[in-house]
Amino acid sequence: MALYNDTVISHFTNPHNVGELLAPDGEGTYGSPVCGDMMKISIKVENEVIVDAKFKTFGCGSAIASSSVATDMIIGKTVEEALKVTNRDVLNELGGLPAIKIHCSVLADHAIRSAIYDYAKKTGKHYAGLDGFNPDADAEDNDHGCDMENQ
Ligand code: FES
Repeated sequence: MALYNDTVISHFTNPHNVGELLAPDGEGTYGSPVCGDMMKISIKVENEVIVDAKFKTFGCGSAIASSSVATDMIIGKTVEEALKVTNRDVLNELGGLPAIKIHCSVLADHAIRSAIYDYAKKTGKHYAGLDGFNPDADAEDNDHGCDMENQ
């Protein structure tokens, strides 16, 4: 049985929204202290709608596929709607990941929240979906699920 489904392979081999926005309204970076993988997401917001999003990843194929799907999912959504996109939604959109790679999708989820957090900070806005979110929590995240011995 193949480890990765066709959707994951498609997003890995032909990822959407790769790059970095010039003059983004918000950007966020998430780095895993466990495997060293990193992701940066930048967003453009107009009238509370995320009109564009780009990502850069130093990460595995699952992280690339997750960020490709996650950025697709938030473009066109309001900021509040984007904050409701969960790690589980990204996994469902991908059609699942191998168990050992499920936590790789956390990179996308956390980086998006960090970008929105940055946007909220710059604009002085408050979003209920950000309550309790700490963009610097990565240093405490030791349950990333990466298995360095298998890389
Ligand atoms: S993001 Fe760390 S191994 Fe995939």
